[in-house]
Amino acid sequence: MTSSPVSNQSYLTLNDGNRIPQLGIGVYLVPDGEPTEAAVSQALRQGYRHIDTAHAYQNERSVGRAVKASSLERSEVWITTKLWPSEYGEGTTAAAIDRMLERLDSDYIDLLLLHQQFGDYTGAWRDMERAVAAGTVRSIGVSNFESSNLEDLLGRATIKPSVNQVECHPYFPQDELREHLAPYGTLIESWYPLGHGDSGLLNEPLFASLGAAYGKTPAQVILRWHIQRGNIIFPKSSNHEHIAANMDIFDFALTAQEMQEVARLASGRRFYTLSLADQEKRLGAWAPED
Ligand SMILES: NC(=O)c1ccc[n+]([C@@H]2O[C@H](COP(=O)([O-])OP(=O)(O)OC[C@H]3O[C@@H](n4cnc5c(N)ncnc54)[C@H](OP(=O)(O)O)[C@@H]3O)[C@@H](O)[C@H]2O)c1
Repeated sequence: MTSSPVSNQSYLTLNDGNRIPQLGIGVYLVPDGEPTEAAVSQALRQGYRHIDTAHAYQNERSVGRAVKASSLERSEVWITTKLWPSEYGEGTTAAAIDRMLERLDSDYIDLLLLHQQFGDYTGAWRDMERAVAAGTVRSIGVSNFESSNLEDLLGRATIKPSVNQVECHPYFPQDELREHLAPYGTLIESWYPLGHGDSGLLNEPLFASLGAAYGKTPAQVILRWHIQRGNIIFPKSSNHEHIAANMDIFDFALTAQEMQEVARLASGRRFYTLSLADQEKRLGAWAPED
């Protein structure tokens, strides 16, 4: 973990050598247009240099506009986006990447993920590897790959996934997956880092007491825990104060004992509980508009 002179935040080096800002802003469920542009613009003004979107979120155009409207060079901002299974397959994925670049109004994507582990993900991966060779994508990774499909892809991939973006928070810290991915250098990106705003998680007495000790909110303590675990995070917020607070976590550190106390909250509880079969049925039946 190294410090950045830009925002005092930390960067991690991926298994392909690219350096990713460890903290970003996520825009899942943030409506396209003004809400996404406002959240991303505020984040960029406050030192965020990483945005996590997806074709499925239907707000890539707004992300692109906010980045363009900022005073920053494109190279200063890390943009992650994700392909939906309807876009998987050799040739199909190449065309989908071209449309993504248009929507983002960018010459390249920093990190491109397979959003779900269904469909022709191996064909998609081949096109993603070609996009890396062509320079239109810098890093590639997966999301929600937690079954035998992960082994399958790891076995076939020439470029090993740089990240696996999965549900991860103090109740479900993904210890096994983290250990499994370590030999490949694949990092964990945490979705639902704040439990999707779950009040039970945010109101855990431990986070209140640690927050009181450091002058931080429970949410800031949880985000700091992620950072010290080596997770890449992009909490979603459309709230002015939260966006500012979520970046203000680089001036304190939890002790090893405090990290252990948080580890004891691990209960195996996930907030997203749809079975794999139901996910495939439901998500496979949907395709994002262009
Ligand atoms: N790959 C995938 O399948 C997948 C799935 C889900 C999410 N994701 C990614 O992960 C990102 C984060 O996940 P998420 O948005 O679902 O959940 P999250 O970041 O865990 O939680 C977001 C919720 O927490 C609230 N919040 C944010 N900062 C807060 C603070 N400082 N104090 C109190 N509440 C706070 C937000 O409300 P306000 O807006 O009011 O602040 C919102 O209700 C997404 O935006 C997306 O980029 C990926």
